[in-house]
Amino acid sequence: MTEAQMIRRKRRQKELRRRRAVLGALVLCLALIPVLLFSCCDFQKAEAQAPAGAGQPSAQPRQKTASPEPVKAETVASKDLPEGWKILSVSEEDLAEGSLVLVNRDYGYDPGLPQTVSVYDCKNHSYLVKDTYLSIREEAVEALNDWMDAFAAETGRTDVNIVAGWRSFEDQTQLYQNAVETKGQAHADAYLALPGHSEHHTGLAIDLDTYDVDTGASGGFDGDGDYAWAVDHAWEFGYIQRYPSGKSHITGIDFESWHFRYVGLPHAFLMRSEDLCMEEYIDYLRAHPFAGEHLQVSCFGTDYELYFCPKNQVIVPTAGNYTISGNNVDGFIITIQRP
Ligand code: DAL
Ligand code: ZN
Repeated sequence: MTEAQMIRRKRRQKELRRRRAVLGALVLCLALIPVLLFSCCDFQKAEAQAPAGAGQPSAQPRQKTASPEPVKAETVASKDLPEGWKILSVSEEDLAEGSLVLVNRDYGYDPGLPQTVSVYDCKNHSYLVKDTYLSIREEAVEALNDWMDAFAAETGRTDVNIVAGWRSFEDQTQLYQNAVETKGQAHADAYLALPGHSEHHTGLAIDLDTYDVDTGASGGFDGDGDYAWAVDHAWEFGYIQRYPSGKSHITGIDFESWHFRYVGLPHAFLMRSEDLCMEEYIDYLRAHPFAGEHLQVSCFGTDYELYFCPKNQVIVPTAGNYTISGNNVDGFIITIQRP
């Protein structure tokens, strides 16, 4: 039994005793219904393997999964926390930290928050970058280096050009206004986030292009031909194609073959194997709260345990390796790396 299951069992037993004493048999039976339903949730186990049907994400439109019931911000008294867990003190600002922040029309992002590094200063020789000042977060550039090394080894190509990374509010305003003026409002809204609502503000997003160093020609990054390998294997390096085809009714942005977002592992793997875009994945994680079934994921020989905590009470292990990320909405995702 996992520690999470022990916690759940203890809480359930305590709750049952209380209800027996106070409410009597009838109320107790009613109270058990959600508990029984809860315990029927599948235990999610995923193995690291190339997802079937590698290639472009499914062209089949997928209905947005119904948002789960809002997580009851149920708190656990410190004295009731089982051994091995502790409550972590977090601030509202921490919600915007981490690789799983959701940024879209509904949830904005302060461009001044991220610390970024110059891609030019950190890159290897397996790809190109448009400008020396183009910057992204350090973890994103490290993963990008590995991804492009693997792509070059596979295809012999070193012509992928990084043309966008972190953007200021002013950069996004200029891009948006320029798109409205030159291509019209509908086009601008289909392909550009409003200033303050672009993933590029997070330092976790990049745009790919191609560049021929001999001719100086830019080719665009359509993800076809040799470049399909880069798209199909992006997840292995923690990147996702953020605006896939068939999901624009959820993401609010039309298919962008060139825009990739760093989320890290095992998240990119889960999103790919479960065919979830970022919005769906945040809902999926929210449906696995600390008090419920945690997600168990095995990826590249490493076992991970994942769960969600509402922002008013974040519970983490007292020992061992874990990372925590805000979702930029209402809580935190804890990713424990099991030895
Ligand atoms: N092209 C993406 C949606 C952006 O403007 O952030
Ligand atoms: Zn982009």
